[in-house]
Amino acid sequence: MKTKFNLWEACVRVYANVILKNIKDAKISPGPVVVTAAAFLISSFVMINSEKDVSGALGRMLLLLMLYILFIFIGGIKLVGRNLHNSEIYLLAALTSLYIIAAALAKNLLVNNDFFPVSILLPTALVIMLPSILIGPYLALAWAFALPLAGFLLGCFDMPAYIIALASGIVASRALHNAERRIDLVKAGVHIAAANCVAVIAVMLMRHLPVKEYPFLLFCAAFNGIASGMLVLGILPLLENGLNAATTFRLIELSDLNAPLIRRLFTIAPGTYSHSFMVAQLAEAACQEIGANSLLARVGAYYHDIGKMEQPEYFVENQAGYNKHDAIPPRLSATILRSHVKLGVEKARGMKLPKQVVAIIAEHHGNSVIQFFYHKALEQEKEVSVEDFSYPGNPPRSRESAVVMLADTSEAAVRTLEKKSATKIEEFIQTLITSKLEHGQLAESDLTFRDLETIKKAFVRVLASYYHSRIEYPKENKERKESVSTTAERG
Ligand SMILES: [Fe+2]
Ligand SMILES: [Fe+2]
Repeated sequence: MKTKFNLWEACVRVYANVILKNIKDAKISPGPVVVTAAAFLISSFVMINSEKDVSGALGRMLLLLMLYILFIFIGGIKLVGRNLHNSEIYLLAALTSLYIIAAALAKNLLVNNDFFPVSILLPTALVIMLPSILIGPYLALAWAFALPLAGFLLGCFDMPAYIIALASGIVASRALHNAERRIDLVKAGVHIAAANCVAVIAVMLMRHLPVKEYPFLLFCAAFNGIASGMLVLGILPLLENGLNAATTFRLIELSDLNAPLIRRLFTIAPGTYSHSFMVAQLAEAACQEIGANSLLARVGAYYHDIGKMEQPEYFVENQAGYNKHDAIPPRLSATILRSHVKLGVEKARGMKLPKQVVAIIAEHHGNSVIQFFYHKALEQEKEVSVEDFSYPGNPPRSRESAVVMLADTSEAAVRTLEKKSATKIEEFIQTLITSKLEHGQLAESDLTFRDLETIKKAFVRVLASYYHSRIEYPKENKERKESVSTTAERG
């Protein structure tokens, strides 16, 4: 019997497979999808109330929901470089639904007004700027194209309203490029106001509107842009806390060396403070050259060893002549060293530091073995479990985290070199990087071999002109191999 090919059924099957596969790959719980669908349903009720063609409105809404969900799963990887977090999916669902509901309501409000474009009443720039700051500018740019198009397809916007929303959204997604202070949001608002005014003039000229309509429409367009910037300024701190996001503004605030915790680190553990500062210089320089987030790496480096503040005297950079580890068994030494990672993570979570910074703290030693004390224990005990002498974290999962790990190891190790010529430093850092590679510590970080070469050169450049003397462990320079492996425990 010949089976009749059903195009719609085939499309739905392909779509369902893509969605299911992406949910599985992204390890995302179905919760955000359900919430998103619910938000779209609420939007569709508002739409239906404003439409005579009920089934048409519902059909368009369903189509958009399908495309939206697909975009969320695929867009995360393509536009942000990672899967979106559930909280980010909720945020996008909320913003999209509120925007569509507002568009439907505004259309109802202006039903008898042919001159006034609906989108001037909507904070399109606000809805684009928030994801731009909190998630990423490329996702926001795609959103700036998608949202006005959704308004147009749903019948909320006519062509003028669509053009104005598009101009406002695109400028909003780029207006925060290089923004470093919160006051830059107000400046972005001014840029958006200017873009809105240009779009309004273009639309008015195209429609041959009477000149007397110009002042009011231009005022509304300018007000829309400036109000969007001001609203972002007010809403952002709440969302930054809610999403625990590493926005540029938040990272710049955290990178202030006068921040209370950094000042305490300086007082309690000056050696660790100095080491962290140097690691930050190295990580920032390297990240700038490989195109990673240098600000995140700098902040991660400042905070990576905050777990040492509980017992600073057990870490070599804070010791002045007397090594406390000489008086305790190697197993206890390893426990103290291991604990600084866990304590650091707890402290960072307690301070509500961004997730990415907490990840750098948790991963800066990966799961490497504390070789020095492991070998010391082997000399004293018959059976020694390598797990007892391994750091409790995962190998770095981001480029920034991996760069901080390499900077940490390099900074600590190069201090112990006797003759610090550029050639010697380069050879030594190459050995350290190779060692990390061979022990699988860079396997999950997405760093390429070309990145590693660039990182090495950046480290050599910075270290060759800047380092401090360092107190050595006993047997430090016994042999190069032992030195390379031992350095991991000092970062
Ligand atoms: Fe450390
Ligand atoms: Fe360190």
